[in-house]
Amino acid sequence: MQMTDIDREVDAREAPISGAARSTLEKHAAALLRHTADGTFPLAAGVMPLEADHYTSAERFAAEKRFVFQRVPLTLAASCEIPEAGDYKTLEVAGIPVLLVRDRQGKAHVLLNACTHRGAAVASGCGTAARFTCPYHGWTFSQDGALIGIASADDFGRVYKALLSMKRFPVAERAGLIWAILDPASPHNPAKMLSGIDDLISGFGLADWSVIESRILTGPNWKLAFDAHLEFYHLPVLHRETFGPQRSNRAFYFAQGPHQRVIAPQGPASERAPDDLYAFGRVPTRDEPLDPLLMGEWILFPGTSINTFYIAGIRCVLLSIVVPGAEVDTSTTTQTFLAETPPQDDTARSAMADMTAFLAHVVGDEDMPTSAFQQQVMGTGLLGEVRFGRNEGGLQHFHMWLDRVIAADDAALMELLCQP
Ligand code: FES
Ligand SMILES: [Fe+2]
Repeated sequence: MQMTDIDREVDAREAPISGAARSTLEKHAAALLRHTADGTFPLAAGVMPLEADHYTSAERFAAEKRFVFQRVPLTLAASCEIPEAGDYKTLEVAGIPVLLVRDRQGKAHVLLNACTHRGAAVASGCGTAARFTCPYHGWTFSQDGALIGIASADDFGRVYKALLSMKRFPVAERAGLIWAILDPASPHNPAKMLSGIDDLISGFGLADWSVIESRILTGPNWKLAFDAHLEFYHLPVLHRETFGPQRSNRAFYFAQGPHQRVIAPQGPASERAPDDLYAFGRVPTRDEPLDPLLMGEWILFPGTSINTFYIAGIRCVLLSIVVPGAEVDTSTTTQTFLAETPPQDDTARSAMADMTAFLAHVVGDEDMPTSAFQQQVMGTGLLGEVRFGRNEGGLQHFHMWLDRVIAADDAALMELLCQP
């Protein structure tokens, strides 16, 4: 059959997606359209309390670091942040310094950013490097972390280079994202522990997108920073001066293992994006574009969110990766703004620049000060507990899954995460 130009465009834009994933997305879409037609809105069974010390306790924080952040696959970056051989990026997760780098074969590695001589950082910031030379005494490492050179080797004495590679974390590159388990001794393959969320979002084809901008925001306890991504209840109130006033405070939640998808009810007609399922009005057939099936916010457990929208007709996402800092009351949020195609003219460029500044303002100047104040209050020990409403099902799901993951032994964790 002859392909039309439109077919080709759809083909080029959309990565393959499994039939099972497409069926799940179609079920989401049918439910959204049904609720919209009926004016209904699913609610959680009850109000869920949470002890305030979950945000302040050193013991709780140690458990989260060990049993969550070092056992489950974490999204650490988009593949397109390090597209070429030698491209690298450094970051820190709960005090663990991490180096992401792509080798000449195109494979992404996630390494402990620490020299095996005496632990200095071998890289900082981001860039491109043929090899990494430790700035302390000059040992050199290849792009896959192998030790390739010891300065003044004869003076140093005999060691086995093959045993002194940088520590390597198990890695998977799926759906245009780089995931790793931050325990070099973990025997598990992160690709098998994604509960199918990678399949659901593979239709974005993020691997071929472009990075428009990236910035790091600092905040309080990682859960307080992330809680703000998990409900839309606050949108028309906290964000009344920015994007909130027209919006509903309701959200639909779809769970996929510990992960979730959060979608607002139909928004104002003036704001409807080309991917708007509600405007589309029906579940797209399999030969129609996938976009209306992917809209909304995707929550990748434990701390990543992918927000979808259009700017100047270009499909964009804001990838927000929230991770703990070294202490219980600190976190960082890396906001990386990706576009399906780079802006081609000044109008699109300036629309994207305006949007990135706007999103940094909304999160940095509205959400973050609020969560920083919450942290202060939790620290007094006087509040006792907080509560998540029946309309805050996404928060309930997230906090229940944290408890579930912490409580699971390794075998139980595999059971929990390997099945959607
Ligand atoms: S700590 Fe890296 S060469 Fe000494
Ligand atoms: Fe917010």
